[in-house]
Amino acid sequence: MHAPAPAAPLVPPPGEVLAEAVEFLHLYHDERRLPGVAARIAQLREEIALTGTYRHTTEELVYGAKVAWRNSVRCVGRVRWAGLKVRDRRTVVTVSGIARELAQHLVAADNGGRIQSVMTVFAPDRPGVGPRARIWNDQLIRYCGYRAGGDTVLGDPAQVAMTDAAQRLGWRPPPVLGRFDLLPWVIETEYEDPTLVEAPRELVREVALVHPEHRWFEQLRLRWHALPVISNMRLRIGGVDYSCAPFNGHYLGDEIGTRNLGDQGRYDQLLPVARGLGLDTSREDTLWREHAALVINQAVLYSFKQAGVRVSDPHTESELFMKFCAQEERAGRPVHGDWSWLNGSVGWAALHAVHHRYYDTRVPNLNLWPGERAYGPTGVAQLGLRQRHVAARLREG
Ligand code: ARG
Repeated sequence: MHAPAPAAPLVPPPGEVLAEAVEFLHLYHDERRLPGVAARIAQLREEIALTGTYRHTTEELVYGAKVAWRNSVRCVGRVRWAGLKVRDRRTVVTVSGIARELAQHLVAADNGGRIQSVMTVFAPDRPGVGPRARIWNDQLIRYCGYRAGGDTVLGDPAQVAMTDAAQRLGWRPPPVLGRFDLLPWVIETEYEDPTLVEAPRELVREVALVHPEHRWFEQLRLRWHALPVISNMRLRIGGVDYSCAPFNGHYLGDEIGTRNLGDQGRYDQLLPVARGLGLDTSREDTLWREHAALVINQAVLYSFKQAGVRVSDPHTESELFMKFCAQEERAGRPVHGDWSWLNGSVGWAALHAVHHRYYDTRVPNLNLWPGERAYGPTGVAQLGLRQRHVAARLREG
């Protein structure tokens, strides 16, 4: 059997604002069956000639955000793309205003446990200068990773660089360090230096993990947050970049059970769980790793369900993804997808989407792209937003 072709890397093609704008406006008017595309294009031609960019109407922004999700080649949950709730907050440009909106995003997304997909869109980037606001965290809710001597980390090893960055900015961790301490937010704008904001703990829903059959499981004291809110990706619609546009869906059990808690470079829980199960871990051919991963996944799905928090199991989700493919094909659109991202699961070979191997591996440009990093090995050399905007204003005189 041949491996399916991997999708193109997530790098946007060099764009030209007018060409992308025209393409987007045609798509928007066609798909929504709206009249007046020629007049709208004439208008934004003029706006672009004058200012180098143009302003989306709220309706265009909302539709563009939904299509960006629909085009996200790594997401298996895209059947829900039209149900995205988009909050147009382009006028909010201060750290305190952004922090308030992020808190409200958490409330809208949490939706009493029946997680709602939400995106909050702040002001677009200034062309040729950069983002007007940037959230340093990769997600709004993440756990600290503290260096604990040698290679050991207390908490989430994936967050060591962010935890360091927050501490360098003056953040003080709680007096007793834990494995699941919430990271603070770091928000930066063109007028304000990177600023620490304590994440509103009372708005962060978490689920303590128990297993339906293994009583001892709860003694591992594992937990996870209910909401994955990605905050470091750049939304690009019709040639306009929105670097500050956090969005969330709901969790697929494997993201937590297999990867976050199971990966050796994350919480690394396969061995403790295998010990609890009394498995022989001295040799690989007992498949104790698969057994332990399965038990953690059962605990995640069971505990979320018990707590009334929306979560998907991989088989149901994969079947829904096939529905998405069928819908897209009916609409005459190619299904863009990255097979390797669409098919992660402990029981992967039984997934529907595994056997649907021929996706269009090109990545459409109206999309969500990796944002620029503000800290860590690739981010340290970058200028802060404020310095960058001041320099640009001086250049312009
Ligand atoms: N895998 C990431 C995490 O474990 C979340 C990515 C987005 N997932 C989602 N279901 N929308 O936190």
